[in-house]
Amino acid sequence: MQDSPNAEQADFWTEGAGRDWITYETQLDALFGGVNKALLQTAAPQGGQMVLDVGCGTGATSREFAIAAGPNGKVQGLDISTTMLEQARITATTAGLENVTFVQADAQTEPLPENRFDHIISRFGVMFFDDPVAAFKNIFRSLKQGGNLTMACWGPFKENPWFTLPRRAATDLLGNPPPMNPRDPGPFAFADTDYVLNILKDAGLNAPTVNTKDIPLTLQGSAADAAELSSYIGPANSVIRAQGGTAADKAEIVKATKTELERYSREGTVTVPSKIHIYSAHKDI
Ligand SMILES: C[S@@+](CC[C@H](N)C(=O)[O-])C[C@H]1O[C@@H](n2cnc3c(N)ncnc32)[C@H](O)[C@@H]1O
Repeated sequence: MQDSPNAEQADFWTEGAGRDWITYETQLDALFGGVNKALLQTAAPQGGQMVLDVGCGTGATSREFAIAAGPNGKVQGLDISTTMLEQARITATTAGLENVTFVQADAQTEPLPENRFDHIISRFGVMFFDDPVAAFKNIFRSLKQGGNLTMACWGPFKENPWFTLPRRAATDLLGNPPPMNPRDPGPFAFADTDYVLNILKDAGLNAPTVNTKDIPLTLQGSAADAAELSSYIGPANSVIRAQGGTAADKAEIVKATKTELERYSREGTVTVPSKIHIYSAHKDI
């Protein structure tokens, strides 16, 4: 029994996965840098604007938008995870950014200030709601009239080798865990574009659209480094947990993933293709 709608996700992102994201912050920020570029290109924030970053995690996207919004603009990062937010504050302070703040809240239920933001953005932070329509209704209230929502979500699982390769390595060794509902909270919950566009419409957003982009994910390091990272951040970990895998199993999975990732490795970097949905919508004036 959950005591609040997203309690399980709050725990997952505060402890297990949240701690792994903090440990690998630098590598993940590099890996997903291209996704930030796509968000900036689509949202096109102007100097002086107010931005809300939903599910901001350790704040990489908040920081990029804070630079674009300039000293007269402001970014508010919002996340359910206390540990990731602590790290977000440290990294933003180290970067000398004074126009970004971070608040701990559940985006689905927190009474957000009305008509406050010119942009609501998210990189991979909106696929974990227990009730997506309720969450987007809540988030939408805080968008100004004429404001825009821009969010990046993973496209189809099968077209994202960052996920397929480690998962295959894990299930080859440990077998398949029981199938989950593809719309349950998780990285691929928003892969079905019709489903998401309907959620946005039902939540009252105007003219929702999607643009699916091929975005290379690049990591400095060897195939072994990339395989190690993918065993913490990605599906191998959840298969190992579900199937009761051991540390020795994890080492086997990393080895098999490394072999697969070698074909994406060139001169000290690994670049894996990805399909990312960039969803947009706005609030009519
Ligand atoms: C995959 S991480 C992405 C983090 C960050 N946006 C990035 O790209 O580095 C998903 C984030 O969504 C946050 N999250 C999940 N459910 C949430 C909710 N109900 N309200 C606010 N944040 C939530 C998690 O705590 C986590 O930081």
